[in-house]
Amino acid sequence: MNQPWIAPSILSADFSRLGEEVQAVADAGADLIHFDVMDNHYVPNLTIGPPVCESLRKFMDRKGIAATIDAHLMIDPVEALIPPFAAAGAGFISFHPETCRDVGRTIAAIRGSGAKPGLVFSPDVPLDALDSFVRSIDLVLIMSVNPGFGGQKFIEATLPKIVAARALIDRANVNPRLEVDGGITHDNIGAVAAAGADTFVAGSAIFRMGDYRAAIAGMRRQIEAARAA
Ligand code: DX5
Ligand code: ZN
Repeated sequence: MNQPWIAPSILSADFSRLGEEVQAVADAGADLIHFDVMDNHYVPNLTIGPPVCESLRKFMDRKGIAATIDAHLMIDPVEALIPPFAAAGAGFISFHPETCRDVGRTIAAIRGSGAKPGLVFSPDVPLDALDSFVRSIDLVLIMSVNPGFGGQKFIEATLPKIVAARALIDRANVNPRLEVDGGITHDNIGAVAAAGADTFVAGSAIFRMGDYRAAIAGMRRQIEAARAA
């Protein structure tokens, strides 16, 4: 089992102070910086693109912040934005299978650009593409809300899907990160860990708390308790 990673989603950060916010969550123990890219087409919201990713990566490098940028692309079509995000320093680049013409080629394009590929599954999208491509990716992202906005309520019915993704990964005898995104709180993160996740996105549950260190440490305690049970 991979060591648990916490990935604060900057969607809930104060964008006027993005560098400081990322520095603060990194100092508080964040492993990944989750970077939500929305296009007002695949999802009904519009966020940030490659220039912001590049500025942020450069800032992080100047400050000696080692955390990886975890780009979650909610863009349709996604293909043309892969090289710019890789060049902008995204370490993981994840996309939804229904946003490209050819999933295998898109995974290969991400890897060819030097980033680690991930596949994302919205709540109503079955795991078929995972079955086909589990051996070619470094990250599986299960959405536990409908993509588009931070601060939504965790959809409990996605827990069995996390269990199914874990079983599929284990059966294939590979070890991509199994990440869950949406509505994660201190109250449900234990159940998400017990279902088999090892990477946990949290936006509002971290950034709405004044004390990021306490927020992340509290999440780690819940994950450890679930793993020990
Ligand atoms: C939703 C985004 C999530 C979101 C998570 O489309 O992909 O990453 O920012 O925010 P919370 O943790 O507040 O649900
Ligand atoms: Zn996300």
